[in-house]
Amino acid sequence: MDETNSMPGKDMDRAYWDAVGDDYDSEIFSVRDNDTAGLVAGHIARLGDPAHTAADLGCGVGKFTSLLAEAFGRVHACDLSPKLLEQARRACRPWNNIDFFQTDLGREAHPVDPVDFVLCVNVLIMAGLDARMSALRAVTAQVKQGGHLLLVTPSTESMLYTQFRRIDWCLREGMNCDEAIRDSVPAHGSVRALHQGIRPIEGVPTKHHLKEELLVLLRGHEMDVLSIEKLTYPWDTEFDDPPAWMEGPQPWDWLVVAQRK
Ligand SMILES: C[S@@+](CC[C@H](N)C(=O)[O-])C[C@H]1O[C@@H](n2cnc3c(N)ncnc32)[C@H](O)[C@@H]1O
Repeated sequence: MDETNSMPGKDMDRAYWDAVGDDYDSEIFSVRDNDTAGLVAGHIARLGDPAHTAADLGCGVGKFTSLLAEAFGRVHACDLSPKLLEQARRACRPWNNIDFFQTDLGREAHPVDPVDFVLCVNVLIMAGLDARMSALRAVTAQVKQGGHLLLVTPSTESMLYTQFRRIDWCLREGMNCDEAIRDSVPAHGSVRALHQGIRPIEGVPTKHHLKEELLVLLRGHEMDVLSIEKLTYPWDTEFDDPPAWMEGPQPWDWLVVAQRK
């Protein structure tokens, strides 16, 4: 199997996301609910303008869409899954400035013109390189010249750091080194996938990005990267029942703000 383009495990296709819709909150990690410092909301408030238009690309069930509707005059909410879009539509019922579009970012021409602000949270996570590159092209092309992109993606550095903390925890519990390392190796996935920053989350191969990888990718798509910061989460988002002593740097996603040249 060519693991650069298709990975073993579930594919993040439309059927997958529709099925997730049956129990979205327990299956999908919510950046909105776990961003306790309100970093994403802060950027939206800072860059928002009632005279401007925003797009929530891969809006899911609309966790961020209402925040955009509050800050911008018009919002396009787009998702691959009709089932998730329906839930987003219900969640955003109080707002009358949102249009919903079912679209595959990786395959179809986008149904609307580029906008002033694009939000794309944990969408560029598909394992297939072709699909991910097409989606990145579509996402960046959707930002107007001078407009902003706010991108959130799982961090490869955080993924490796979390495994270090897991091994350290096992050693403290009395395991020997071999046992501790074995305990931290995922049940699925491969070295080849890991080399690309792809690791299973709940059995689903998920792309993580390095900070420098994001810089290079975005610069290659006519974007100036203005900031890359850590969006940190508590340890119980990574481990069941983490011990009280587990402090120190917390796990994180990368939060990037970029501007189209
Ligand atoms: C992890 S969820 C994040 C949802 C939302 N951005 C949030 O943070 O709450 C990923 C979303 O991306 C959507 N998605 C995945 N691939 C897509 C594609 N090719 N085109 C459009 N949406 C896609 C999925 O349907 C899903 O709703």
